[in-house]
Amino acid sequence: MASATRFLLALATTLLTFHNTSAFSVKRLLEAYFPCAALRISQPDWTTTYFEPSLLPSSAQNSTLEELAALARDRNFSCFEKVPGTNHTLQCSTSGYTLVPATRPKYAVIFLAGLYRKGFEAAALPIFPLIIQQDPTMFDELIIHYPLIPFRTITFSQFTEPPLTIGRAWFDLLPPPRSTAPEDLLAAQFDRLGLYRAAQRIDFITRAQHCLHGIPTDRVALLGHSLGGFALLETVMSTDLSPAAAITVSGILPRVGDYLRPNTLPYNPSRRSYNLTMVHATEDDVIPFQFGNASAQILQPLFTSLGGGFRFVAPQGFDHFSKIFFQYEGLYPLIAEALRNGFIKN
Ligand SMILES: *[C@@H]1O[C@H](CO)[C@@H](O)[C@H](O)[C@H]1NC(C)=O
Ligand SMILES: *[C@@H]1O[C@H](CO)[C@@H](O)[C@H](O)[C@H]1NC(C)=O
Ligand SMILES: *[C@@H]1O[C@H](CO)[C@@H](O)[C@H](O)[C@H]1NC(C)=O
Ligand SMILES: *[C@@H]1O[C@H](CO)[C@@H](O)[C@H](O)[C@H]1NC(C)=O
Ligand SMILES: *[C@@H]1O[C@H](CO)[C@@H](O)[C@H](O)[C@H]1NC(C)=O
Repeated sequence: MASATRFLLALATTLLTFHNTSAFSVKRLLEAYFPCAALRISQPDWTTTYFEPSLLPSSAQNSTLEELAALARDRNFSCFEKVPGTNHTLQCSTSGYTLVPATRPKYAVIFLAGLYRKGFEAAALPIFPLIIQQDPTMFDELIIHYPLIPFRTITFSQFTEPPLTIGRAWFDLLPPPRSTAPEDLLAAQFDRLGLYRAAQRIDFITRAQHCLHGIPTDRVALLGHSLGGFALLETVMSTDLSPAAAITVSGILPRVGDYLRPNTLPYNPSRRSYNLTMVHATEDDVIPFQFGNASAQILQPLFTSLGGGFRFVAPQGFDHFSKIFFQYEGLYPLIAEALRNGFIKN
């Protein structure tokens, strides 16, 4: 018995060691049949290996449930109660907010928020009923996760007034490129370690849906705003994650200079079988439209050559957050279409 166990262990170890090169992927096989085991195996890779210099100590990370409930109340949302205009319940925990449907969820959206200061944790909540109401039938089976992002020090804080020195952010912000000229894009510095860790975290949260709710990754969509959109684009380009759909609002391709260097492969070359939609308003007051457009010009040929679908939408006028989310009427039909296409395919 013991020797049989040892043999199986040795076999599993061998397969896992070679899984990247073998014709079939053990990782995919495990994810399909033993999603919770797959998750446990992958977690130690990234939770313990690196220290991120900009992260605040863990003792400074959590918001209390009472704080999060009060912030939700300020936006007219009550924790553990029905969300008006939907059949969903708002669940609150120290890891974030979740809109849970009345029936067993079949689809999931992970919302990746942009940079924000303490006290703005609930600012994105009003977006979610607007998504659900686009398709009451399909989205009655949709669970929406809004994970809290870690607190970290912010090096370049001029996006906000007063400037932010500590905020919730997927990675640290360094001074942006001066322009979209190739020499400026090549010269810009990025928090590459932070981006790498953000992509790992997002990959993990996405794959965890199978273990948590029985929702396989190809029925989980990612929606990223601003810095969350940067992190989303890093994730879809640098991992082999295969979500239902990926949508950014006011987000751009980070470490874009890497994509301009000759003879480098700054992205994961696996085939993509989903669509990437980028929305960037022409009057964005935080991340200039030219940066969104430059990202789209680089990503469109690349993403489609990898087999994915790509769409860039540039609404005339509107801004970085309030107007694009709460005044641009085209946004929610667009998000719903991208979600529906991605979910129906699977
Ligand atoms: C934060 O909250 C989570 C969930 O309750 C808990 O597992 C974790 O240990 C907490 N972390 C800190 C630093 O208190
Ligand atoms: C919350 O609801 C009250 C009463 O309906 C309303 O006056 C207030 O403007 C709402 N606040 C927000 C943030 O929507
Ligand atoms: C909620 O459930 C009711 C009854 O099943 C249904 O008519 C409605 O379309 C659902 N969705 C929303 C957003 O209210
Ligand atoms: C985006 O950039 C391309 C290439 O520079 C340009 O042709 C196009 O007009 C720009 N799009 C918008 C909406 O300005
Ligand atoms: C990708 O977009 C095209 C065009 O809008 C659509 O026909 C297709 O269903 C989409 N595919 C997926 C997987 O979402």
